[in-house]
Amino acid sequence: MTKSPSFPIQAVIFDLDGVLTDTLEFHYLSWKQLADEEGIPFDREANEALRGLTRGESLRLVLQGREVGDETFQSMMERKNRYYLELSQNMTLDHVLPGVLPLLTELRAAGVRMALGSASRNARAVVQRLGIAEFLDVIGDGSCVTQSKPTPDIFLYAATQLGLDPANCLVVEDAASGVEAALRAGMWVVGLGPEERVGAAHLVFPNLEGVHWVDVVHKLTYQRRAIAAT
Ligand code: G6P
Ligand code: MG
Repeated sequence: MTKSPSFPIQAVIFDLDGVLTDTLEFHYLSWKQLADEEGIPFDREANEALRGLTRGESLRLVLQGREVGDETFQSMMERKNRYYLELSQNMTLDHVLPGVLPLLTELRAAGVRMALGSASRNARAVVQRLGIAEFLDVIGDGSCVTQSKPTPDIFLYAATQLGLDPANCLVVEDAASGVEAALRAGMWVVGLGPEERVGAAHLVFPNLEGVHWVDVVHKLTYQRRAIAAT
């Protein structure tokens, strides 16, 4: 059985898209272009359902049950990724979401290790382009594991690479599948976004703006006491 998360929290594992940077729009525009070319209806609402899914899982949803051969499926994934790479080429530090840099800096000062746990195969290139790779001790991306979120694999991979017990790790996620994956890994989870999406997390914030590490630790400590007292 998975252990409950505990203190001290020795590492924070960040999801990438929607947590450190808002690439959702780039992913949306790329899927939209592919869908338009294929004559498939696709809008922002349909794109929301792709949050946290792998490229292949996303394409299956975009196709909405339309059957295509393996080769066509592969070439569609490649085409979508080409559009995505073109759009994300001009990313800079300006595309890092508000609150992220102060938090990364605080974590570094507090001696907390940092890692990336993303389903994206572009994750390494994106953090390098954003200029935040130097903060990350480990980069776990879509090529590191075979099973995607909500299995805990990518987060367990990051903990193993850090040489830490999963129970001493905290995940920051914006997708429901990612929150579930982190809970299944036995880690602390901070969810970013609406309750309906990330409410299963131990703590929920709209985004990382104004989120300070001491407050996160304080709130989790207080919450644990509250749980223990019931
Ligand atoms: C993240 C995003 C998804 C994206 C997936 C795969 O999980 O939230 O929207 O589809 O990564 O990204 P990739 O860059 O490998 O196509
Ligand atoms: Mg995400």
